[in-house]
Amino acid sequence: MAKILLGVSSSIAIYKACELVRELKKTGHEVKVVLSPFSERFVSKLTFQALSGSKAYVEWEDDPLLHINLPRWSDLFLIAPCSINTLSKITLGIGDNLLTTCALSHKGTLMLAPAGNVEMYKNPAVQRNIKELKDRGVIVIEPEEGKLLCEEEGQGRLASVERILDWVDYALRPKPLEGKRVLITVGATREFIDGVRFISNLSSGLLGYSLARAFRWYGAQVKVIAGFTTAKEPPEVEIIRVVSGMEMYQKVMELKDWAHIVVMNAAVADYRPSETYIGKLKKQEKLTLELVKNPDILQELGNSKEKRLLIGFALEEEKDLLKNAVEKLQRKNLDAIVANPLQAMGSQEYYGKLIFKHGEVFEIRAEDKLKSAEAIVKLLIKKLL
Ligand SMILES: Cc1cc2nc3c(=O)[nH]c(=O)nc-3n(C[C@H](O)[C@H](O)[C@H](O)COP(=O)(O)O)c2cc1C
Repeated sequence: MAKILLGVSSSIAIYKACELVRELKKTGHEVKVVLSPFSERFVSKLTFQALSGSKAYVEWEDDPLLHINLPRWSDLFLIAPCSINTLSKITLGIGDNLLTTCALSHKGTLMLAPAGNVEMYKNPAVQRNIKELKDRGVIVIEPEEGKLLCEEEGQGRLASVERILDWVDYALRPKPLEGKRVLITVGATREFIDGVRFISNLSSGLLGYSLARAFRWYGAQVKVIAGFTTAKEPPEVEIIRVVSGMEMYQKVMELKDWAHIVVMNAAVADYRPSETYIGKLKKQEKLTLELVKNPDILQELGNSKEKRLLIGFALEEEKDLLKNAVEKLQRKNLDAIVANPLQAMGSQEYYGKLIFKHGEVFEIRAEDKLKSAEAIVKLLIKKLL
């Protein structure tokens, strides 16, 4: 777990920094807070001391080198909320209080989450400063669009705590996948019988979305093609929606050449009704549905693999898990396959096996799918790249 220096400056969104400290602590990080003097008018340092379990700072007090020692202590310096004023001072190299001076002396990763009125945010001087910061390697977590406290609509709302936490996860990891493009399919397809009924399955999309997050954390550019999902969408990842297996097939074929790595995690229906009735089928004594085969996307990708890495998934009965997965890996010309027992579908916990084409097998077991996804991504990096 990491040592995080959290800077807070005076924005009305400062109350979200309190939740942020709590969440960072819950994850196991050590947190120290440094406040701009003006922000103490909004929330006192006492609140941050209580939430972080560490001393919070506004002034140097009895350590004249605090502006050096705090950044030196930290693995990551995050300023959230970052007022437009503090953001602009950091761009110009101004150190007129403890917070801005810490930003000046900090050598590692600096991450700013600005918040402010839409006109303040759009101001050309501010936009120029943001561009300059990004060019210098500072991570700027863009504010969100929506109704602002000042009753105006537009971009300026502090990024959600969830998004900021995802960026913390991103910032704390190495980037061996920089320059790599990963395409992941996720969720369940729906094969419509009539206008309101369909054949589908239990896939929630949780493991696929978790893989998307983990691939991004390690530096990859990620696109997700998602069928129906109930899991929360990953932040900062492009998501392309499809409904049926045929649509999934078309999108994958369209995007496969873009990708260096294709991860076929979606639970695509093997069959679809040969015809979709327009409107709603009336109740009748007996109804026979004729099903036809959907295209085998994974097989087709395996047949035209070129230099792409291809990762498949197999959902199998526990007793034949390994045997069936290995057979699928070979038949479909995959680089690796993740074999899941039936219980994995729709569940929070995870247990499965990651099998490589050269024969190595790894047990993946974790209390949640995000942890399992990260373990899978780390192994893929180690063994295939
Ligand atoms: C109620 C209130 C809300 C404010 N909200 C914001 C804000 O969301 N973003 C911002 O950049 N400035 C906001 N300001 C203005 C800043 O507080 C002001 O620019 C201040 O000088 C920033 O100081 P600091 O960057 O040292 O914290 C707000 C001011 C007040 C009084």
